[in-house]
Amino acid sequence: MESFPECFLWGGAIAANQAEGAYDVAGKGLSVADVLPVGADRFKQMDLTLDPAAYYPSHDAIDFYHQFKSDIELLAGMGIKCLRLSIAWSRIFPNGDETTANEAGLKFYDQLFDTLIQHHIQPVVTISHFETPLALVKNYGGWKNAALITFYERYCQVIFERYKDKVNYWMTFNEINHAHTLPFLAAAVVVQEDEQKLQTIYQASHHMLVASARACIVARKINPKFQIGCMLSLSPVYPATCKPEDVFSAYELRRRSLFYSDVQLRGAYPRYFERWQAENHIQLTITDADRRTLQEGTCDYLGFSYYRSSLHEQGMPILGNTGGLLGKKNPYLKETQWGWPIDPLGLRYVCNELYDRYQKPLFIVENGLGAEDVVDPQGHIVDVERMAYLKDHVEMIKEAIKDGVELIGYTWWGPIDIVSAGTGEMKKRYGFIYVEKDNQGHGSGKRIIKNSYYYYRQIITSNATQMDYEPFIR
Ligand code: BG6
Repeated sequence: MESFPECFLWGGAIAANQAEGAYDVAGKGLSVADVLPVGADRFKQMDLTLDPAAYYPSHDAIDFYHQFKSDIELLAGMGIKCLRLSIAWSRIFPNGDETTANEAGLKFYDQLFDTLIQHHIQPVVTISHFETPLALVKNYGGWKNAALITFYERYCQVIFERYKDKVNYWMTFNEINHAHTLPFLAAAVVVQEDEQKLQTIYQASHHMLVASARACIVARKINPKFQIGCMLSLSPVYPATCKPEDVFSAYELRRRSLFYSDVQLRGAYPRYFERWQAENHIQLTITDADRRTLQEGTCDYLGFSYYRSSLHEQGMPILGNTGGLLGKKNPYLKETQWGWPIDPLGLRYVCNELYDRYQKPLFIVENGLGAEDVVDPQGHIVDVERMAYLKDHVEMIKEAIKDGVELIGYTWWGPIDIVSAGTGEMKKRYGFIYVEKDNQGHGSGKRIIKNSYYYYRQIITSNATQMDYEPFIR
């Protein structure tokens, strides 16, 4: 393979809670994202009720719920072939445990998918992207509770039936491995002070893994052509030094993430997990039926996000945020305004690492640069850094394809500015389309095309044979 195949899915990716707004419209219930206020410490306050004095960015987001038709028209102008988006679970099942779906929620996604299809854009759907209905946390303790498997399966059954002729590519859980670093968003659990954290996280993870497998099984019965993927945050971990202890420790930390795709793609718990469980005093409840489900319900492809790499040293605290793990500073890499190292070669590295491990198709479903944008006096946004980031990463994808990696597509994160998941900010912008709104939700909401928009269009229409962005710096 010399370069990008003709069928390569160039696209963009968003999540319902970061784009739609309309958080209580047409019967929608609250989701975990809806109780997170703006600010870098949004996960610390973990209050499951709304504070009238606080600002919750997901409530209005960029109002995609009402403006999706014009937004899709703008996105279509770049020639994208697919849009990855999520269905807000709590629009379909407001509390998560109902037995009848909310028709108004289903209708909304009918219109959304129809509009995309009219523009020749294929919807790629994340079934659960940090949007578990809040009532499932309050009433069941979130994914700690095996009862959620049944609720999730019911939800999947409904959306697979409903959209079987409109959607082909699905992903079961966004960044399932973030159960460790972002347990509230990724696994809908609040870890109490006196709880054994790893026990809770792995039991919740087990339930999600079984739910993911059930989704695969149900999906294939409804439409054998469906492609169901798992989705992980897979920004790589490099050893901070060549000291063997650092190398092995980085390797083990990487396995903490790959554990999830090992189960989802291979259908069984990996052998290394037995020792890990014993040494960390984890006792999971796993039934024989669960093991059969995992074996039967493997995923067809691996979707992953890639933003940066991190450096790990043995014994250092393991911390992370939405971009992946946080490590030591890498002196060889520049950083974004939010301190995320920029490492295009890391993307080629990860593509090769994952393909070597699984030999399954990969889908890069998130990559992008979060940066502040300046609207110049003429009303233009000349976002050179974003274009450079895009160019450098696409060049590395090209190399990975030449290396023999099988890639389904590439969806840039946030092709239109959306609310940040990590901080709730608007000013951390990823888009090729600007949305005039600030961190407190003030602003007209007007959309402005950035120069990178034309650059991404050139990449897509030329299938990455024209990579020069000079013409767009003016
Ligand atoms: C990923 C999430 O972790 O990172 C997205 O899947 C998120 O929802 C993205 O938006 C970028 O992170 P942030 O914090 O810059 O929005």
